[in-house]
Amino acid sequence: MANMYPPSPEFVKRARVQGMEGYLALYRKAAEQPEEFWGELAEKELEWFEKWSHVFEWNPPFAKWFAGGRLNASYNCVDRHLATHRKNKVAILWEGESGEQRQISYQELHRLVCRFANVLKGRGLKAGDRAIIYMGMVPELAVALLACARLGITHSVVFGGFSAEALRARIQDLEAQVVITADGAWRRGKEVRLKDAVDESLAGCPSVRDVIVYRRVGAGVPMQEGRDHWWHELDEGVSEVCPAEELDSEHPLFVLYTSGTTGKPKGIVHTTGGYLLHTHMTMQWVFDLRDEDTFWCTADIGWVTGHSYIVYGPLSAGATTMMYEGAPDFPQPDRFWRLIEKYWVNIFYTSPTAIRAFIRQGDQWPNGHDMSSLRLLGSVGEPFNPAAWEWYYKMIGKERCPIVDTWWQTETGGIMIAPMPGAVPLKPGSGTLPIPGILADVVDLQGKPVEANKEGFLIVRRPWPGIARTLWKDSGRYRQAYWERIEGVYLAGGAARRDEDGYFWILGRVDDVMNVSGHRLSTMEIESALVKHPAVAEAAVVGKPHEITGQAVACFVTLKKGNWNHDELGEDLRKWVAHEIGSFAKPEQIRFTDSLPKTRSGKIMRRLLREIVTSNSVTGDVTTLEDLSVVTRLSAQQDED
Ligand code: WT7
Repeated sequence: MANMYPPSPEFVKRARVQGMEGYLALYRKAAEQPEEFWGELAEKELEWFEKWSHVFEWNPPFAKWFAGGRLNASYNCVDRHLATHRKNKVAILWEGESGEQRQISYQELHRLVCRFANVLKGRGLKAGDRAIIYMGMVPELAVALLACARLGITHSVVFGGFSAEALRARIQDLEAQVVITADGAWRRGKEVRLKDAVDESLAGCPSVRDVIVYRRVGAGVPMQEGRDHWWHELDEGVSEVCPAEELDSEHPLFVLYTSGTTGKPKGIVHTTGGYLLHTHMTMQWVFDLRDEDTFWCTADIGWVTGHSYIVYGPLSAGATTMMYEGAPDFPQPDRFWRLIEKYWVNIFYTSPTAIRAFIRQGDQWPNGHDMSSLRLLGSVGEPFNPAAWEWYYKMIGKERCPIVDTWWQTETGGIMIAPMPGAVPLKPGSGTLPIPGILADVVDLQGKPVEANKEGFLIVRRPWPGIARTLWKDSGRYRQAYWERIEGVYLAGGAARRDEDGYFWILGRVDDVMNVSGHRLSTMEIESALVKHPAVAEAAVVGKPHEITGQAVACFVTLKKGNWNHDELGEDLRKWVAHEIGSFAKPEQIRFTDSLPKTRSGKIMRRLLREIVTSNSVTGDVTTLEDLSVVTRLSAQQDED
């Protein structure tokens, strides 16, 4: 039996949702009267220029929320606070890696967003156009998102760790008119040359008319006449008045690319009204946000966590959202704790991978800091192993702070399964119960609920406001990936079980998607990158359990004929993958083999390879030449029986 941690009476007393009765009342109302439930919230919690005609339209698998309603996400995140006591409240609290500080009030944010929106307008950009944003974690990144949202330009942020190749694929798929970038970004005291990557990526991207470059590191970068412009030059003398466009609730706010089970990333499309309501409500339900809180989500805005819980959710809810530019261990492993102490952070949201890395660095690092401002902790991105959970609870939260383990995905827009901290007793390692409106379940392949404590597929029965509407230019793949295998329900791609209390335990992915440091990587994407290398004949990639990062990338490679130096080639291939995708996708292990295990129909047996990397101890040596043909013959028979 897992330990249970009920919320303390002091926490409950001040919580937005109090006790199980409070949670259950909301959950029931949302399940029984979804239209009333969400309609009332949308009316009360967001500002609309025009009211919707229906709360919800469901034409499976395509959902619409608040269709016909008109609003603007940028207006809801910025303008509406100007008429309140929040006008001079810090909206974005930023610290650069080298220690610079910026505190941007809602009023100041409004000016920055309006100015940059006018810059974009000045380049002829308008609602319906697309912007690729490729920057480090500076406030101007959030400004760029909000300025696009203000005009109805659909943005797609590409994480700064992606390579030029990966960037190009996204620019091309989106047919973006503009790329917003920076000369560079700081990471562990070094410059990441972002503009160079943009230049490299733009060969073969005829849609891009303009590149706008924010000066961050002061690096000399080539500027192509007519195409490239400095942000600060375009900004000179620009007007601070820029009305927000009155957009349809279903206007695409952003596209975010994520890995699927094929080599091609999926462009997840999120729209405006439903997404904003979902992120706004979860700030209150799950993070129990109070006006005086300083909220810190440590993700990068390049991932959905940063979109929803650094920018849109917190700002819509009027929070002070903290943003940190650099690495967690720079200049020392206590940087996060230092920041919590310095800024009196109240709510801290990070990943199990980060926690496991901190555990390894030793208790002296958090112990040196006064973190008594904290009142709530959060986790996201991967299953949270109970031992790391307990460390987080004791060492960081001093047994005072509930931990909200939040399960969700790029596709879901916002948090789906997580405790309301003043209501739901915690069990380490469990996301506990779904938030209101989320009819989650664990079922078999026929869609039948499985018994308590039995493993099955995690599904959701009914669309919710923040659900991805489709995949960019690929509604067929949207239907097929999420709605077809089990008729009529959203298939999340994960395995889970529910215990005797109905709590959800998320076990991992059931598809060819790996989770490395909470980043989603597709086995197929890395395989396609490997086979592009001139020496490689065939490649198979699997996730290998890893103490810190959850999983690591392990590759089995067969080579074309030739006289290869395996040591050099192994290193070369690791660099190659970093070049094709990004350094965070770098394989930990490359193994050369004469053949890959396959079924008679020719499918690579990843299941078998997963067993090999999990149990066998050939680790360390990345260049063993293996003959897998024996195991192959044996297991192939089994697999096809
Ligand atoms: C996948 C989604 C959504 C934020 C970051 C990742 C895994 C996410 C948890 C959790 C267990 C989790 C799932 C999911 N995941 N949160 N609390 N417990 N697993 O977004 O890149 O779209 O990845 O992350 O496997 O499917 P993403």
